Amino acid sequence: MRRYWTGVPGVVAAVLLLAATTGAAQEGSAVYGDIMNDPRIKDHIVGDKHSGYVYATVATRDMQEDDFKNPAFTWVGLAEDLWGAAEGTAGKSCADCHGAVETLKGVSLGYPKYRDKTANMAALEHVINECRTERMGADAWKWESDQMLGMTAHVKLQSRGMPIDVAIDGPARPFFEKGREFYFQRRGQLDLSCNMCHLDNAGNMIRADLLSHGMGNGFPTYRLKWQKLGSLHRRFTGCNKNIRAEPFKRGSEEYTNLELFVMWRSNGLPSEAPSVRR
Ligand code: HEC
Ligand code: HEC
Repeated sequence: MRRYWTGVPGVVAAVLLLAATTGAAQEGSAVYGDIMNDPRIKDHIVGDKHSGYVYATVATRDMQEDDFKNPAFTWVGLAEDLWGAAEGTAGKSCADCHGAVETLKGVSLGYPKYRDKTANMAALEHVINECRTERMGADAWKWESDQMLGMTAHVKLQSRGMPIDVAIDGPARPFFEKGREFYFQRRGQLDLSCNMCHLDNAGNMIRADLLSHGMGNGFPTYRLKWQKLGSLHRRFTGCNKNIRAEPFKRGSEEYTNLELFVMWRSNGLPSEAPSVRR
């Protein structure tokens, strides 16, 4: 991947230096060795792209690999029920129109996707809500609701292991450019941009965390810290807040364009949703 930024700004260097003396997983440590010697990581590395899986602890990976241990499957179970439940004024369920959820195999890999109707990018959440409001006559689900998290996990599960494949050409291009701009714009009191952590310092410690490439192929993810399944936009909110920048709304155009850029970076990596992260 092209490098857009070289050199580490002072503040990041200072933070990282501090972390290097306290971090549990720094290079050379036993934890770091366990992480990098696990043969399973090879399926989560494509060229120079690393899934967040590569930076997860072995225990977290074990949890992700076993559907009975992965807590995200509680939400998937909820969505299995919702899939067949008729709701709204049309009296229809997802299943009435789509049949078995397996028919959506591969579909999630291309999102966010440009849509003529709205003349902008739609994330999977937007499309699901469109089916609810326009086709079922039901209320939209809140972005971070159990229903929406469960349903996006349920739909993406049909594509597990398949490579992320978002398109950035044609009408998607201007939105991709906006997403890229967001990614490289320094913001917040700490004056940091996404790339400073996830491109330039991937593999380094920041406080107690081992920095990943910040890929999107595992979302929604069950985060141990959240004790909950969470969306990619929630993660963006967290990363914005960490640098004391004002976050945008989940589902906003800003975050959807950013999602397009992040998913483009993730192109080729296997879809892991619902993953488990620290
Ligand atoms: C100060 C450093 C820092 C900045 C700046 C930052 N992040 Fe993060 N980000 C983290 C840390 C720490 C984590 C948790 C460990 C990891 O996965 O890297 C994380 C995790 C993520 C993840 C989850 C990856 C996974 O596999 O679970 C994504 C996606 C992400 N960041 C995207 C972004 C985006 C987009 C921006 C810019 C809006 C951003 N980050 C800015 C520190 C940062
Ligand atoms: C009344 C019929 C109807 C109902 C009910 C319905 N959908 Fe849809 N759905 C459609 C149509 C039509 C499309 C657009 C055509 C297409 O792209 O396949 C669509 C598109 C989609 C897509 C995008 C498919 C793609 O190829 O990109 C997803 C995902 C989806 N629906 C999920 C759901 C979920 C989840 C529910 C239940 C909450 C639901 N739909 C309920 C008719 C329906």
